[in-house]
Amino acid sequence: MGEFKINQYTKSGELFQRAVKVIPGGVYGHLGPSEGCAIPISAYPIFADRAQGAYFWDVDGNRFVDYMCAYGPNILGYNDPDVDAAAAAQLKRGNCTTVPGDVLVPFAELLVDTVEMADWAFFAKNGGDVTSFAVMIARQATQRKKILMLKGSYHGVAPWTQKYGYGGIIYEDVCNNLYCKFNDIEDFKRVVEENKGEIACFITTPYHHPIFEDNALPNENWYKEVRKICDENGIVLIFDDIRCGFRLDVKGSDYHYGVKADLECFCKALANGYNVSALCGIQALKGYATDVYYTGSYWMSAEPFAAGIACIKKMREMEIHKALKAKGEKLQSGLKEVAASNGFDLIISGEPAMWFMRLNNDYTTMVHQEWVAECVKRGVFFTSHHNHFINAALSDEDIQFTLDVADEAYKAVRKNRPDFH
Ligand SMILES: Cc1ncc(COP(=O)(O)O)c(C=O)c1O
Repeated sequence: MGEFKINQYTKSGELFQRAVKVIPGGVYGHLGPSEGCAIPISAYPIFADRAQGAYFWDVDGNRFVDYMCAYGPNILGYNDPDVDAAAAAQLKRGNCTTVPGDVLVPFAELLVDTVEMADWAFFAKNGGDVTSFAVMIARQATQRKKILMLKGSYHGVAPWTQKYGYGGIIYEDVCNNLYCKFNDIEDFKRVVEENKGEIACFITTPYHHPIFEDNALPNENWYKEVRKICDENGIVLIFDDIRCGFRLDVKGSDYHYGVKADLECFCKALANGYNVSALCGIQALKGYATDVYYTGSYWMSAEPFAAGIACIKKMREMEIHKALKAKGEKLQSGLKEVAASNGFDLIISGEPAMWFMRLNNDYTTMVHQEWVAECVKRGVFFTSHHNHFINAALSDEDIQFTLDVADEAYKAVRKNRPDFH
């Protein structure tokens, strides 16, 4: 018997049986067991009961140190008291009203003051709302059709972001998409030359964080060259900062990597889980943004704006990206050591605040999946295919707990895999 309790998920299972009867897929999308790659499914919770700080508890009462952070929104810690108080106060005044709450303006002012490249800000709900808006603005500004993006990147679920052959996608949805390789400037140049005068925008994540693959940071000249080629060819440079935003630098991930984007998309960490996304842009594109008709029933909700103001102020004051980096480095060096002490070579890539893990020589990822499942069963929530996230509430004790669980989990895997190295 190991030191840690092994979770049971009876209530999650019962609730999922009810869910599949009335909801397509039971739980759809990346929070569901299928897209979330919960393998084996028996190791994972399906429904949460509550959350606080660095943890969530499932409906069976199991606690998890949560390294997925709701896939990004949890940056300060769940239920941050300052953000929640600002949201509650605004909710009392009004939320979804006929004309927007006055809090819209200071929120935009604060974002413009915080994000280095921003001359203006526009708000919506999800990340995909603002990546699509950014592409529409670029098309309006350039009067061109084509969209250049990285192979393997994710920009949401709007039809243009998907692939031909996926459910519900027709050829015309994606026929203007072009793809290039990250960090390969010759490939970038080739695509631009082959489509001279036809490319509206290059939309890119700040660094490359595909699923199931090592994540890659930009090499030294990548953005210098990309910016130059975009300028020479009238291509709008869009940073999709939805996942990295505020975790690398509160001034924007373009600033972090020493480049200035023309449009920058934010969502996840913007309001610590309150429902708002933002597009920031440069002055030269402001008029084109006005030309595009774009809105939604809840896009002017005042409660998330108040939460966003409190969240940004707090992130700025504490220089959150520095804390996240330090916590990430401590955790990741510990995980590598624990793996090595059990004879496993853990490969870590990406930024410390948002790292990706895999095992060396594990070509089918089966061994890594087994380890992740053993961790989850003991109360440390990792995934086997996606980058993870650090939040500011994560304590040294949480990191030590994680390392102890990771050690026991590697030992459990080793029992069944005596020859794997
Ligand atoms: C880089 C990136 N872009 C866009 C999106 C889409 O955001 P949303 O799911 O809020 O529409 C995501 C979501 O994970 C993302 O990580």
